[in-house]
This record gives sequence, structure tokens and C-alpha cells, in this order.
Amino acid sequence: MKQMFASDRRMSCLLTVASLAAGLGTAQYAAMAGQTQIPTTIEDFFVGGTQPLELIDPMESSLSCIICHGIQFPGLVEVAPNWQGSMMAQASRDPLFYACLTIANQDVKDVGDLCIRCHSPMAWLDGRSEPTDASAFIDSDRDGVTCHTCHRMVDPVFQPGVSPPEDEAILADILDIPVRPGTGGIIFDPLDRRRGPFNFKAPFIPPHPVPDGNQFIQSPFHQTSELCAACHDVSNPAYTRVGDDYVLGTLDSAHPTGDQYDMFPVERTYSEWLNSDYPNGVDTGGVFGGNLMGDVRTCQDCHMEDRQGNGCNPDDFGFPARPDMPRHDFAGGNSWIRDTLVELWPLDAIPNAEDWQARLTEGQDLSIAMLQRAATLDISQDGARASVRITNESGHKLPTGYPEGRRMWLNVQFFDAADQLITERGYYNTLSADLDGSDTKVYEIHLGLDAAVAAASGLPEGISLHFALNNKVYKDNRIPPRGFTNAAYDAFGGKPVDATYADGQYWDDTLYALPEGSASATVRLYYQTSSKEYIEFLRDENVTNHWGQTLYDAWEMHGKSAPVLMATKSIDLTGFVLGDWDGDSDSDLADFEKFEECVTGPDAGSIDVGCEVFDFDTDQDVDFSDLRTYLLHFTGD
Ligand code: HEC
Ligand code: HEC
Ligand code: HEC
Ligand code: HEC
Ligand code: HEC
Repeated sequence: MKQMFASDRRMSCLLTVASLAAGLGTAQYAAMAGQTQIPTTIEDFFVGGTQPLELIDPMESSLSCIICHGIQFPGLVEVAPNWQGSMMAQASRDPLFYACLTIANQDVKDVGDLCIRCHSPMAWLDGRSEPTDASAFIDSDRDGVTCHTCHRMVDPVFQPGVSPPEDEAILADILDIPVRPGTGGIIFDPLDRRRGPFNFKAPFIPPHPVPDGNQFIQSPFHQTSELCAACHDVSNPAYTRVGDDYVLGTLDSAHPTGDQYDMFPVERTYSEWLNSDYPNGVDTGGVFGGNLMGDVRTCQDCHMEDRQGNGCNPDDFGFPARPDMPRHDFAGGNSWIRDTLVELWPLDAIPNAEDWQARLTEGQDLSIAMLQRAATLDISQDGARASVRITNESGHKLPTGYPEGRRMWLNVQFFDAADQLITERGYYNTLSADLDGSDTKVYEIHLGLDAAVAAASGLPEGISLHFALNNKVYKDNRIPPRGFTNAAYDAFGGKPVDATYADGQYWDDTLYALPEGSASATVRLYYQTSSKEYIEFLRDENVTNHWGQTLYDAWEMHGKSAPVLMATKSIDLTGFVLGDWDGDSDSDLADFEKFEECVTGPDAGSIDVGCEVFDFDTDQDVDFSDLRTYLLHFTGD
């Protein structure tokens, strides 16, 4: 064992020396002992679009926008303060990002270049993504997804009469236009022409620089979800889809088709939305959209709600307030990372530093409010069982996006007639941050390694948190949105795994057997940004730098990613016969036989129709572990 350790170390030293000698200047990462780093190169992570050092006008830091777009007036919404509290503005300060980036670089050589492309586009475009550990960053790179990033983006599909005419020439100069949006394949205007939703007429013309006579360009693209798609479908280009498998391609070469859907699906938020009812419009009854009248369609409708506000400091330029100012808060599901930042970063590099904490707190509150609009929860009694329904009200899977550590679960408490707690399913220990998921349903995606990548990396086959190495979906029971179909989701690599949803199903039901003596029940739906397992993993795997420990300490200090209560409902239960599984108001041999039939039924690994109630541990099958859970919780034994 010891010997292996030593030789492994020597190997990775040799690799480092070799790459330095070759003048590659790549990061000096070594994989963990006993593990082999996959010897990929930056070439393996090539994605089309604008490449580094191609812009004519450099990207401006957000500071140069904030001076005009940045002061918050009481009662008015403004652009920069909202953005400053968003996670996208922290994408390159986020300690979770750096902890994960480190493990990714350890596992898969040079993959960090890909990460930086989305998490700090300015650094990437200016050639500061090498070394791939972000050590070449300058202060303004830490602003993550900056104003300029989004406001110089060009629609990759030229539509005559719709697209700005300037785009035709820009697109003609791009060698590789991505087959479909995603994985950071973005086309940027090489000139500093700021694009946005509005058309301005004199005297109110934005006082921007005029590289070619355009102080602004009206861009319909900015009101479409395709703008967000470039970063909100994330694929791993090192892998190529072959049937249901994803195989490591030829090393040191770009992906053979360049099509996102042939690469390993890491995040599919945009495709989930695209293959839902939302592109055609959904009436959310005013829950989403702010001042928007009518149906909700795009990412912007929900994540950049229209409010009354100013696009620019009103006192300076006299531009009027608008009723449809797109709020730039981009609230999502992150409920704790913002708490950690002020301690981690020197404030002298932060624009408007004195307001930063306030902006972050606002952003976090908006995220929590978003989570509390994401689902509807119902509970009803069905004989000797309680039926809980979660309906997904968001525009994509619930939860969506980042796969590792994100999860949502049901907690159910049963009370007796004296309001004493009888039993609890899905108990979460606030002190230790441990969730007992063994007797409730946890909604999450689990990625992992197949046999081939396990062999190549020296890691075990199965579920893993090695983000950049994972090439197989082991579980995905996240709830689909309105308009879901299995065929469409299969096509983009987003079909449910180890869970079943019928076409059109955007809710999920769970049956909980009622314990003896229960008179009422309360169900709670929780969301957690980062699980304890993930935070510990990022600390324990790190053999390179301080980020694993720094993240761990911040997590411990700030409530251990406290679960967010998304929704809750209570119900009074009427009389029932314990053990009446067949619904005939008695509990007899027939009920037991039904259980037996379900355990021995043909649907191994899933649930036969009519057997749902026997899945006492809600792990999507009916077997003897259900009997054990039943005995534990429902008979008081
Ligand atoms: C195509 C763009 C893209 C690429 C490439 C990308 N990411 Fe991300 N990343 C995102 C988006 C979008 C989110 C937010 C998803 C969400 O909130 O659910 C995200 C979220 C994350 C998070 C979660 C942060 C938090 O606070 O919870 C981590 C960690 C992360 N990325 C690390 C990485 C690493 C490491 C890589 C490279 C191996 C990488 N990302 C590559 C777009 C990208
Ligand atoms: C000197 C002041 C000033 C600076 C600096 C400035 N802007 Fe503006 N900008 C304005 C004003 C004024 C408007 C009009 C606002 C309104 O009426 O909504 C505007 C409008 C815009 C629009 C809307 C365009 C449209 O067609 O919808 C965008 C996008 C924009 N600015 C981006 C930026 C970015 C990005 C930066 C930094 C790189 C920046 N601005 C810096 C003053 C400024
Ligand atoms: C240049 C890449 C890029 C583009 C373009 C982009 N995003 Fe993001 N987005 C990110 C990254 C990276 C993160 C994750 C930041 C983190 O958590 O560290 C993210 C995070 C988010 C989050 C999650 C926030 C949270 O609290 O968890 C939301 C919501 C979001 N983006 C919405 C949008 C919308 C809407 C658009 C289009 C208008 C968009 N994004 C365009 C890269 C991008
Ligand atoms: C109907 C409203 C709606 C639409 C449309 C919508 N979202 Fe969301 N989104 C939500 C809600 C509600 C949440 C909070 C629940 C959650 O985090 O999963 C959310 C969460 C997110 C998150 C954070 C996920 C996490 O937990 O880390 C990201 C990223 C995101 N959305 C991006 C997008 C993008 C990109 C689009 C367009 C392709 C989009 N959303 C369209 C409502 C919407
Ligand atoms: C993730 C992408 C993204 C980022 C980052 C971003 N914006 Fe925007 N911005 C948009 C989109 C998309 C719209 C149009 C939304 C709509 O119309 O629904 C918009 C609209 C605007 C407008 C038009 C509103 C008006 O009243 O004139 C201005 C100005 C603007 N952004 C400035 C900024 C500034 C300044 C920053 C940085 C502080 C910034 N944006 C950061 C995507 C972004």
C-alpha cells in the first residue's frame, strides 16, 4: 500500500515536470493517491464560438457599468445592485466553485479551462484560464458573469429582418458555430456594442462608447431563453454518447460531433425548459413574471421579473423609469454561499463594497422566496395511508441544475390525538446536518462512473461526486415540468432514471402508511443547496490547496447549508383501520397477502401497480426492507 503511494506520487511529479518542460504552463495538479488522473488536454474540452484573444475591444469590468447603472434609489429597482446580489456575480468568488474546480483538475487534467469559460468568461476570453486553477485571475475576473458578458452576446442563428444586421458579418468570422447552444459556446460581438431589449430614441440615447456609431444595439435575442442556454446546458465534451453509454473519446482532440446532446449531460436546465410547455406560454396566475401581463414563457420571465424601475441612475441622465425593467436578481436555489463571501474576499476589490453584504442578503432572500414558489404541496387521506403530492411549478425539473449535493425531500410527522409526535419520516438533524433518507423520498440526481472510467481512473464503479469524471446517470427522480415527455427527455440525456414519470406528469405522489393512533399529520418539503456528504468529499479529496478546508469551515460556520422550507401542509386524519392495505375497511389475511404479492411481484427493482403503499421506505421498490421499515415505524415495536 505504502509503495503504491510513493510510486504514484513520483508519477504525478514526472507528469508535472514533463508538462512544465513542454512549456504548457498547465496547473500542477496531482490526483489522489491510488487514483490516476485522466491525461486529457485543453483540446478535449474545445467548444465552438468566440475563442480566447479574439475580441477587438476588451471586456470591460462591471465596475465601469456600475458607475451609471448602479445606485439603488428607494422604491425603485435598479440593474447593478440586483446583479451584485446574484450568484452569477459570485460565480468566480464562490468557495464551492473553487473547491470543486480543484477536484476536477485533480481528476481530469486541464478541465478547469472549461469551468472558467462559464464561471469567469472575462478571464477566459482574455486568456487567463491557463493555468486552469484560476491562479492567473485579476481582481475583476472574480466578478463572474459580468454585465458585459451578457450584453455583448450575439444570437448564433442569424435571422434576417430580426437579428441586428451587424450580426451577419460577426457570424461569418466565427470558425465553429456550436451545433446547439450550451457548454459555454458563446459568440461575442468583437466590438463594444452593448446589446439589450430596448430601442432608444433621442434625446434619450445611452451615453455608451461608439465603436462604430452604435451606442446600443436592440437585440431580440436578449429576451429569449437561448441567451441563457449557452451556460445553462452543461455537457462534458470529453465523453461521446454511444447508445446509453458515454465513452472517453480520443485524447487530445475535440469532440467528434460538437453536438451537446452527444456529450455527457451534466446540467440540462435549458433543454428541460425547451421540452416543456413553457416555450408556448403557461398561465401562472401571477405567481411569476412581475408586471408582465399574460403568460410566462422564458427564463427571463421568471428569473428577471419585470418591475417598475430605472435602467440607469435617474438623477444623472434623466432617463425615465420603466414599468418593465427586467430585475437582475437571477434568484435560484442557492441559500447559503452568499453568507460566506464577505469573509473570504478582500473588500477593496469589490465595487460598492460597503453595500455588498446588504445586496448579498437581498439576493439570498429572493432565492428563498423563489424556492417557496417552486412547488405546491398537498396531503390527503386515503384509508390507512396519507397521500402527498408535490407539483412542480418551475420551468424545468425540480430541482434542476447543478447535480452534486443539491436535493429536496419530504418530511412527514404524525401526531396522536393529544398532539404528541408519534413518528417522523425524513428526519434531518440540524446539528450534525445528517438526513435520514431511508424512510422518505429524496429528489436528486446521482451521477457516477461506469466500469470503463472506473478502470481508467482507479476509482470504484458506481455513484460518485467526482463532477468532471462522472459519465453515467445512476438516479434522477427530480420532478419534470409541465409538458414533459419521456421520448423528448431521452433525446437530450435527461430521462428519469430509477424513477418513473408518465408523459405529461409534472407532479409526484408518495404514499405514507399511517402509524397506529395517528390523528393528524404535517408534511414539509425541504430543499438543500449542499449536502454534508458533498462538503466532506470536497475537503477530504483535496490534495492540492486550501479550498476544501476553507469551504468546509465556511459551511460549518454558516449553518451547514440549512435546509429551506419550501412548503408545508397539515391534515386531520379520520378513523382508519391499521393495516387496511386493500381499502376494504378491515385488516385481515387479504391485506397481508397483498403485501406478499407485491414483494414477490414481477417488477423487481420498481413497483407493481397497486403496490405503492407497501414501499414504506420509499426507495422505489417493495421488498423486505419495507417490512422492516413498517415494523419500525408503525407498530411501535
Ligand atoms: C456551460 C457552463 C458551465 C461550465 C462549463 C461549468 N459550469 Fe459550473 N455551473 C454552471 C451553472 C449554470 C451553474 C448553476 C446551476 C445551478 O445553480 O443549479 C453552475 C454551478 C456550479 C457549482 C455550484 C455552485 C454552488 O454554489 O452551488 C459548482 C461547484 C460548479 N458549477 C463547478 C464547476 C466546475 C468545477 C466546472 C468544470 C469542471 C464547471 N462548473 C463547469 C455553468 C457551468
Ligand atoms: C455614462 C453612463 C453609462 C455607463 C458607464 C454605462 N451605461 Fe449602459 N446605459 C446608460 C443609460 C442612461 C441607459 C438607458 C437606460 C434606460 O433608459 O433604461 C443605458 C442602457 C444600457 C443598456 C440597454 C440597451 C438596450 O438596447 O436595451 C444596456 C444593455 C447597457 N446600458 C449596458 C451597459 C454595460 C454592459 C455597461 C458597462 C460595460 C454600461 N451599460 C455602462 C448609461 C450608461
Ligand atoms: C456566461 C455563462 C452564463 C450565462 C450566459 C447565464 N448564466 Fe446563469 N449562471 C451561470 C453560472 C456559472 C452560475 C453559477 C454560479 C455559482 O453558483 O457559482 C449561474 C447561476 C444561475 C442561477 C442560479 C442562482 C442560484 O441562486 O442558485 C440562475 C437562476 C441563473 N443563473 C439564471 C440565468 C438566466 C435566467 C440567464 C439568461 C438570462 C443566465 N443565467 C445566463 C452562468 C451563466
Ligand atoms: C415558471 C418559472 C420558471 C421558468 C420559466 C424558469 N425557471 Fe428557473 N427556477 C424557477 C424556480 C421557482 C426555481 C427554484 C427552484 C429550484 O431551485 O429548483 C428555479 C431555479 C433555477 C435555478 C437554480 C437551480 C438550483 O437549485 O440550483 C437555475 C439555474 C434556473 N432556475 C435557471 C433557469 C433557466 C436557465 C431557465 C430557462 C431555460 C429557467 N430557469 C426557467 C422558476 C422558473
Ligand atoms: C446573465 C446575463 C446578464 C447579466 C450578467 C446582466 N444582464 Fe442586463 N440584461 C440581460 C437580459 C437578458 C436583459 C433583457 C431582459 C428582458 O428584457 O426580459 C437585460 C437588460 C438590461 C438592461 C435594460 C433595462 C433598461 O431599463 O434599460 C440594462 C440597462 C442592463 N441589462 C444592464 C446590465 C448591467 C449594467 C449589468 C451588470 C451590473 C447587467 N445588465 C448584467 C442579461 C444580463
